[in-house]
Amino acid sequence: MRGLRDGALVLGLESSCDETAAAVLRADGTILSEAVLSQLADHAPFGGVVPEIAARAHLAHLPALVRRVLAEAGTGPEGLAAVAATAGPGLIGGLLVGATLGKGIAAARGIPYLAVNHLEAHALTPRLPGVHPGGLGFPYLLLLLSGGHCQCVAVEGVGRHRRLGSTLDDAVGEAFDKSAKLLGLPWPGGPHLERLAATGDAARFPLPRPLLGRAGCDFSFSGLKTAVAQVVAKGLDEAGRADLAASFQASVAAVLADRARHALAMLPAATALVVAGGVAANGAVRAALGAVAARAGLPLVAPPVRLCTDNAVMVAWAGIERLRAGLVDGLDHAPRPRWPLESLAG
Ligand code: KG4
Ligand code: ZN
Repeated sequence: MRGLRDGALVLGLESSCDETAAAVLRADGTILSEAVLSQLADHAPFGGVVPEIAARAHLAHLPALVRRVLAEAGTGPEGLAAVAATAGPGLIGGLLVGATLGKGIAAARGIPYLAVNHLEAHALTPRLPGVHPGGLGFPYLLLLLSGGHCQCVAVEGVGRHRRLGSTLDDAVGEAFDKSAKLLGLPWPGGPHLERLAATGDAARFPLPRPLLGRAGCDFSFSGLKTAVAQVVAKGLDEAGRADLAASFQASVAAVLADRARHALAMLPAATALVVAGGVAANGAVRAALGAVAARAGLPLVAPPVRLCTDNAVMVAWAGIERLRAGLVDGLDHAPRPRWPLESLAG
């Protein structure tokens, strides 16, 4: 498959958490069709993702979504050259749905199946042509900032990733969501908190900045969340809520910038600082990281939000990169709820 033709079509499937997604890409990275069904409304009454509900929703919606993206790409299963599905890490019920469907199509058509690591899919997204002019070369530094993941990774090649740091407690998106909940905002609270913060005074509450200045690039957010809870417990008026949101966001942005600075020093050959995951949508976070990158003379690469949050384009693209590297997986590949990036064989 090293000779994968540029025109070959690859189907990508994503079902590791609460987004059901499918996409068809040409091997040259052209996106022919993409669709994401969010299960937000299904989980919102519970204030978080319910694994059983997620698995059933993937099962109910993924097959029709695949038919839709194939039709939009002007093809059928017979036009595919390969199928890539997220095989971990994530919720096992959803992983089984996507991986089994992917294997089924691959078996029926006699084409390669790629078991994609969800974190590697995020990690390789900035190499999609169109995301960065000329395509991003290895190595680069990736900050993966989402509701479930918070880590800093040296991306050195396909299947070659070194985790430089990760959260000691909450993920950064989780910190946004928990603080937003304390402020009485709906779940998931990140975007709501950002809107509230826009009218607030970030200097009003001197919140902690966990691990700031500490060696390495681990993260910690639970102390910050506790500090938010303590301020809320004293009682807040409307302006106070906005000020607290702004103060929280400023703390997070300052901490992330500090951690990124340390990480860049750990990877002197980096060609770029890349930010991905839902929190990458946050304007204050982007601005703070942009300043760090600029000071290091590097570009900050932030893929468009639809490619930063969970999607199937990134899964198809990771499959294409793996095929090009001569990798393919057997139909006996078992999905892995826990699957650290560093354990990928090159
Ligand atoms: O990557 P993602 O869509 O899903 C996973 O967690 O895998 O990330 C979702 C997280 C949630 O915690 C959400 O509150 C946060 O990203 N988020 C934001 C913003 N948009 C989404 N956090 C802060 N500011 C935002 N604008
Ligand atoms: Zn993700």
